[in-house]
Order: sequence, then structure tokens, then C-alpha cells
Amino acid sequence: MSKDPGFITPAAMEGQGGYNRSSQVQAAGLSPAVPMLEFAARTVALPAGSQPIVIADYGSSEGRNSLLPLSAAIAILRQRIGPDRAISVVHTDLPENDFSVLFDTLNTDPNSYLRRDHAVFASAVGRSFYEQILPAESVTLGWSSWAIQWLSRAPSLIPDQLQVAFSRDAPTRAAFSKQAAEDWHQFLTHRERELTPGARLAVMTMAVDANGEFGYRPLLNAMYSSLVNLVDSGFLSGEEMRRMVIPTVGRSRADFLAPFGADSRCGLLRLEELEIFLGEDHFWSDLERDGDAQRFAARWAAFSRASVFPTLAGSLNSGRSDARTAQFIERLESGTTVRLAANPAPMLIPLAKVLLTKEL
Ligand SMILES: C[S@@+](CC[C@H](N)C(=O)[O-])C[C@H]1O[C@@H](n2cnc3c(N)ncnc32)[C@H](O)[C@@H]1O
Repeated sequence: MSKDPGFITPAAMEGQGGYNRSSQVQAAGLSPAVPMLEFAARTVALPAGSQPIVIADYGSSEGRNSLLPLSAAIAILRQRIGPDRAISVVHTDLPENDFSVLFDTLNTDPNSYLRRDHAVFASAVGRSFYEQILPAESVTLGWSSWAIQWLSRAPSLIPDQLQVAFSRDAPTRAAFSKQAAEDWHQFLTHRERELTPGARLAVMTMAVDANGEFGYRPLLNAMYSSLVNLVDSGFLSGEEMRRMVIPTVGRSRADFLAPFGADSRCGLLRLEELEIFLGEDHFWSDLERDGDAQRFAARWAAFSRASVFPTLAGSLNSGRSDARTAQFIERLESGTTVRLAANPAPMLIPLAKVLLTKEL
């Protein structure tokens, strides 16, 4: 039975600490955007009075990668507001995100902002950021890293690939581009409503480079051929594989700019900064040092497992509750590792950072 592609939506990241353990690529990739968040914290207009200052973290997953950027922003706000004014940090993610691990991380991680500051209060919202999820005019500082490349849904299946960037099917590419444009616009519209006048929002996400390259090609090739092998071995049906889609996109500079007029405005939001940059493949640097291709491949496969395998497992016949889910994930991870270790190559990691301000 073929599943309506309209229902293929992103799953939350691997739970039970899986994402926290296997998101070093994301931790490294977001670090060049932290100075932009620090700048935002230094210059943002603060609401008058003594009410709490709200920081929203859109797409937090299990939280570990939020600790460094948010701690940096909180330290700067503290210099401006003194030690006692309350700061409320709201982490948001999809409803099925592992929020228990998020709260545990906030309570126990040595780098947690909660351990250093008696007037910071954390909470969470489990709703899609493609809706309004916080009260109007309540957020003073926004942060989002590695999250808005996830579309609200896959607009169609991809006939020849898992990732639309590698598809040769023009109608499929057009459908994903349209969805990406609508989702970026929706994200901006809802944040515009949530931000206080003068608030700032720093966004870091996946992009395509100046040549339109999405990157990660050796990894995606290894993953795709592992899936083909799972079909050939009878573990997976061809129909299940046909339904597997990674509903992420890399946006170009033009894609980010599209909702903004010549005056850099989209409604009350002003685009302050937009930069496309390349993340470093630290796993490759380690391989160049130690020659360990197996470790290189295992680390990239673990990155995929923690981020995209839960979504792929959703296309098994009984969804993520399918009896084969655990084995599917293990087999796909080991198949990807074997193939990537046999042909190791550095990953291109195109990223974008965007700074927005809401008009006063
Ligand atoms: C790759 S993780 C990024 C986590 C963390 N911010 C980081 O930089 O490592 C992407 C997160 O975005 C979340 N996400 C995807 N689509 C979302 C949506 N529509 N609304 C809220 N969160 C979403 C996923 O569930 C996931 O936890």
C-alpha cells in the first residue's frame, strides 16, 4: 500500500541521548554563527521594566548543542541587565522530541547555563515552528541551529534518490523548491509575530554553496547503496525503499533573500546579515592525521543515524513501530559505514547564517 506522500513528515532526532552523543558535526558547524548571536545579544532592544527576557531556541533536539551558544548569549545579556532580572529560555522542538533528555541535559551537563545563573529559567514547547508557538511579542532573542533545513513535509516522493539535491527528476526538484520557499516564509511569518519590537533572531541552517552543491555526497551515496542492498537481500521491500525520503533542503542565497524586498524587509523583519559558508569536516581532518577510515565512516554513519534514520524508519510498512525498526537502523548504519570506509572522501558542508531584526 503506498503511503500518501503528503504524510511523510520529519521525525524527531534519535532519542535516549542518541542525538546528543552523535551531533559533533552540528556542534562544529554552528560555532561560526555564535558570534552573530553574541552580537544580537549585545545590541538587541530590551523590553522596558523588569519582566523576564525570553530567549527562544527553535529546534533544540536534546539540547546539548544549545548550551554553548545560549550560555554565551546569556552572559552578554547579564552584563546589560545585572544578575537578578529573570531570563526565560524556551527550547522548542517537534512533539515527539526526547524532552526528558533535554531536561536532564539542562540539569546535569557541566556546560548548562542553569548551573551558572540563579535567575535563568528553562522550559520547553513541543510544537512545530511552522506555526505560532509562543505568545505574540514575547521573544527578545531567538536562536535556531541546524533545524529549518527540515521541511514541514515532503511534497512528493523522490523517484531516484533519498535526498532531492541528488535527484535528476525536474518536477520533484520543483516541488521541493516550492515547499522550501513556503516553509521559509511560514517560519519568518510566525517568528515576526512572536518577536518583541526590536528583537533579534539568529538562524544557522544547511545551504547550498555558490555552485548549488548540497554536499555530503559520499555519505548519501553510501546510504543509498546500503538501502538498495537491504532490498536485494529481502530485508526491505522495494515499495518501502521507494517511500524513503529525507525531507531536508539546502537553500541558496537567492532562496533566503526571496521573501525580502529591495529594502531587506519582509513585513516587520529586516535582514541584517546573510552569509553562506563551508563547515569543516573534522572527521576527515582526523582521518588525515590517523589514517583510520573505519572510524571516519562510523562517525559519519552515526551522524546520519541520529538525524535522518528515524525519518527513514517511518517509511517501513508499520512505520517506526515496525518490528524491524531496530534492525533496520543497525543494518543501515553498518552498511553505510562499510561503504564509506571503502571509499572515504571529505564531505562538503555548505551552511548559512542569517540575522534578522524586528522593527521597533
Ligand atoms: C539536527 S537537529 C538540531 C538540534 C540543535 N539545534 C543543533 O544545532 O544541534 C534539528 C532539530 O529540529 C527539529 N525540527 C525539525 N522540524 C521541526 C519543526 N517543524 N518544528 C520544530 N522543530 C523541528 C528536529 O526535531 C530536530 O530536533
